[in-house]
Amino acid sequence: MVADSAQQLMADFDHIRNDFPVLATQMNGKPLAFLDSAASAQKPKAVIDAMNKVLEGGYSNIHRGLYSISQQLTADFEGVRSKVAAFINASTEKEIVFTRNSTESINLIAQSWARTHMEEGDEVILTEMEHHANIVPWQILERQIGIQIKVVPIFDDGSLDLESFETLLSEKTKLVSVVHISNATGVANPVNKINKIAKAFNPKIKVLVDGSQGVVHGKVDVQKLDCDFYVFTGHKLYGPSGIGILYGKYDILDGMSPYQGGGDMIERVSFDGTTFKEPPYRFEAGTPAIVEVIGLGAAIDYITAIGFEALEARENELRDYAHERLKEIEGLKLFGTAADKIGIFSFTLEDIHTSDAGMILDQCGVAVRAGHHCCMPLMQRFGVEGTIRASLGLYSNKADIDQLIDGLKKVKELFG
Ligand SMILES: Cc1ncc(COP(=O)(O)O)c(C=O)c1O
Repeated sequence: MVADSAQQLMADFDHIRNDFPVLATQMNGKPLAFLDSAASAQKPKAVIDAMNKVLEGGYSNIHRGLYSISQQLTADFEGVRSKVAAFINASTEKEIVFTRNSTESINLIAQSWARTHMEEGDEVILTEMEHHANIVPWQILERQIGIQIKVVPIFDDGSLDLESFETLLSEKTKLVSVVHISNATGVANPVNKINKIAKAFNPKIKVLVDGSQGVVHGKVDVQKLDCDFYVFTGHKLYGPSGIGILYGKYDILDGMSPYQGGGDMIERVSFDGTTFKEPPYRFEAGTPAIVEVIGLGAAIDYITAIGFEALEARENELRDYAHERLKEIEGLKLFGTAADKIGIFSFTLEDIHTSDAGMILDQCGVAVRAGHHCCMPLMQRFGVEGTIRASLGLYSNKADIDQLIDGLKKVKELFG
């Protein structure tokens, strides 16, 4: 999308709203102001249509069928693997593993790579701002084989304390696993720098980036980033749920054993022993999420057509507008005030319970999240039970933010 002025940019994006059928609906008799895209984004018609097309006119299982429908769908399915590789600039589509979601991608790395490449006393470094999906799999491994978890602290503005990170690196460090952009505060981590620091300390340290939010808000280039693993989830990227991505450098994937066993991941099976396919198929046991993969491909086409340059410019403008307007709400405390952040606004309203605020906002047609956002340790760091979180998607507009501000004023009137 080419826009020669900020106004034109806004107009182009307002047009984009028409691509999302749900945005024309109402919630509690009010226009829907959907501000929960960090949890799961709405789907454009292009994604819905692509999935329906498969279901209505060409569904079958893939990889094994000798008939035309199956062969066509296999080609389309594998075409999405190439599309994902191009989207994040992986060097080959063989580095793209289809999983269920980010959570499964991280569990796969923990149970396949880490379980065989780490031993008792080896260390994984996480940060205070991780989603539970990047904490619990390591705690399970801690119980299973006795690895140690070290945690990088954050500053009050939500940014990472890089000096502390450097002091945590040790000869026992085998993996650094860090979120690209926090889902709870919107603060971005300098993942490039983190990777460089880790590799300069010891080139053998592997770096895993949880890109669940990162891949949605800016162009990701895994080769430039030079991380070893990058994971994300389809449903935040305007695609369907049930499909996620694990990117891994090929030589690392090649040295990993399967995560699950079953059909489609084997070369030969006998009761004397089984041989496995090469990556990525080795990690894709059973019938995959065929329709969802096609939907993810359509979502990537959709975002690519808009372009990250336009997308970021629009989001930054709306983010600044929202920050200005949130200042109108007395007693509102914002968490995540670091300069490098996206359109996620996490806040409390003095003594007003986040669920009470969420309920009133619902009555006002405003969809937000209230709670810990699967980041309990981060909430503990901030000394709160939870926050109210409003998050932007590419279809968000100023009217959504205005509706949020009006709703918050109502919350203050009723509970303040
Ligand atoms: C930063 C981050 N990591 C991981 C996840 C988990 O994603 P999923 O539930 O799709 O596996 C989320 C989802 O909220 C997230 O925001």
